[in-house]
Amino acid sequence: MNAGIVGIGRFLPEKVVTNADLEKIMDTSDEWIRTRTGIEERRIADDNTNTSDMGFAAAQKAIQDAGITAEDIDLILVATVTPDQPFPSVACMLQERLGAKKAAAMDVSAACAGFMYGIITGKQFVESGAYKHVLVVGVEKLSKITDWNDRNTAVLFGDGAGAVIVGEVSEGRGILSFELGADGTGAKHLYQDEYIIMNGREVFKFAVRQMGESCINVLEKAGLTKEDVDFLIPHQANIRIMEASRQRLELPVEKMSKTVHKYGNTSAASIPISIVEELEAGRIKDDDLIVMVGFGGGLTWGAIAIRWGK
Ligand code: UT7
Repeated sequence: MNAGIVGIGRFLPEKVVTNADLEKIMDTSDEWIRTRTGIEERRIADDNTNTSDMGFAAAQKAIQDAGITAEDIDLILVATVTPDQPFPSVACMLQERLGAKKAAAMDVSAACAGFMYGIITGKQFVESGAYKHVLVVGVEKLSKITDWNDRNTAVLFGDGAGAVIVGEVSEGRGILSFELGADGTGAKHLYQDEYIIMNGREVFKFAVRQMGESCINVLEKAGLTKEDVDFLIPHQANIRIMEASRQRLELPVEKMSKTVHKYGNTSAASIPISIVEELEAGRIKDDDLIVMVGFGGGLTWGAIAIRWGK
């Protein structure tokens, strides 16, 4: 049995904060942010919209897209480092709000790689036959743990949510291979005290090396090569990091998803948000071979090679 993505949805807050807006509140410039990160604007959730609200909106769309009901969901995994509160989990909040009565529920803490951790965990339950439908949500309200006086981090992040239903897909389609990893010795480079604290250069070096490696590794595990790849969806952290992965796969620019300019780094939400963007633009088709790769605080990383379609 092959597990794949059978439904998808996303939610982005309406409020747009541009680089010009940030110039007014901190010592930065549109030019610096664009050239160093590729970010032009990001979405920021209002005070009345919490992580669970965004996750709920994205999850509803994914359920509808999959053509199932909330009661068909067996497990809810919410990848987030910005839960509404330490407990109960956002997953339990969604279980109640969705009416997913039979679903088990828990949050996954793997920072920006959380969505990859979630989807790969969901795949195991589906392929073992234990569960039929796993709802995986990547959602962050990073604005609430951002130090708006720290220009090193404040310009990078945005809020948003993406959700998928992992379920059985037809033969030849679905998740062909995966890689997950962690290196706790790098925990000191990216963590939350009260706010996000980051050693940007160290995270940058790690990301460039690890994203490229993971892309190659999942292709090898699936018995495929760079030439087989139709599309790359990297975690949208920084265009320079993303470009390094694209070059490692020797893909032309139009074969890499780029949403970082519009939404900034939305951590665990960035990959599912980008998948929806590409589907809506018609750049992903059934049977395309797609590589998705993420990295984040922990340090953590994860990648999959997936043959698109149900
Ligand atoms: O999802 C994972 C989350 N983390 C990441 O993805 C972060 C990975 N790292 C990065 O993306 C990059 O390291 C940054 C974008 C954070 C920084 O880019 P960089 O090219 O590594 O710049 P830098 O840290 O070496 O800083 C260069 C200069 C510094 O000034 P000095 O010391 O050379 O005078 C910074 O103080 O740029 C300065 N700077 C800024 N200037 C204007 C740092 N942030 C800003 C800013 N505006 N927002």
